[in-house]
Amino acid sequence: MGNFLEKVQQAGREAAASIQAAAAPTDVEALRVKYLGRKGVLRDLLSEMGALPASEKPSAGQAVNQLKNEITQLIEAAQKRVEAAAKPAAKAGPRLDVSLPGRMPRRGYRNLIKQTMDRFVDVFGRMGFEVASGPEVELVRYNFEALNIPMEHAARDAFDTFYFTGDVVLRSHTSPAQAREMEKRQPPVRIIVPGAVYRPDTVDARHHFMFHQVEGLYVDEGVTMADLKYCMLLFAREFIRPDVKVRFRPDFFPFTEPSVELDISCAVCAGKGCSVCGQKGWVEVAGAGMVDPNVFKAVGYDYEKYTGFAFGFGVERMAMMKYGIDDIRLFAENDMRFLEQF
Ligand code: DAH
Repeated sequence: MGNFLEKVQQAGREAAASIQAAAAPTDVEALRVKYLGRKGVLRDLLSEMGALPASEKPSAGQAVNQLKNEITQLIEAAQKRVEAAAKPAAKAGPRLDVSLPGRMPRRGYRNLIKQTMDRFVDVFGRMGFEVASGPEVELVRYNFEALNIPMEHAARDAFDTFYFTGDVVLRSHTSPAQAREMEKRQPPVRIIVPGAVYRPDTVDARHHFMFHQVEGLYVDEGVTMADLKYCMLLFAREFIRPDVKVRFRPDFFPFTEPSVELDISCAVCAGKGCSVCGQKGWVEVAGAGMVDPNVFKAVGYDYEKYTGFAFGFGVERMAMMKYGIDDIRLFAENDMRFLEQF
């Protein structure tokens, strides 16, 4: 008898341990079958009980019944526990509603300035110009001295800018990149430099303290002003329209000699006169000229051997003419109603 009751207790301990450890619904079900099933542990105990003497049967039966109740309760508790663990989402809140319309991400695109600069890169790229770049935070030496604008020169005013220190400024044009690039290599050099520039100008419809330029430089043996003019004409035809006209007007820049101002016939009114060209029929889009020998001297080029032309386009100017925009401030206001049109 002692033996049988011990066996019942032992089965109870094992059952409790394994049922409480069960983690998956299938494990719990397997344990239910093992203990309570038709060929289970409890059935075995009941049949063993048959062999006991009659006097011991009542207490043995009581023990087996109690074990059955305990195991049944343990199994039910385990079933609830593993089911709850298998459905954390159901506990966390309402189900995912797949019928809700999705939130569309806004699609980005290139800003008009970038689009315009990319177009410069495309057209000049096909004429053999490589893209170079220079820093926007520039040394005074490159912004002025290397470009033949010494301290006492009156032209220093025209390229005035924002100073960090006596030596470091925000570049007021992309021309310093010419000197930087020439210091790095020998001719032939054929580069364009798109980028932002800064001037302490009062902001109005035509002026801004930050705008963009595309610089160009071509240095080799035998480069002439005729090359410059034809290059500008080809560019204007490609960039604006095949029937566009260009003209040079004499001008002055310290880093070119001779220097010119490049006008393009107004694309908005086809040269008839409108608000974009100020009724002139022409729009001033770039400064240009033949590289001054003093600039070659500053970067260590042989100025007897090489000649070259340089130019600097206003990017906003070109975009304004191409799209008939009459206020430069629109580019910097970040107004999506304006930007989304392009
Ligand atoms: N850097 C001049 C400006 O910002 C534009 C310019 C004129 C660039 C003549 C040149 C050039 O390369 O040759 O007004």
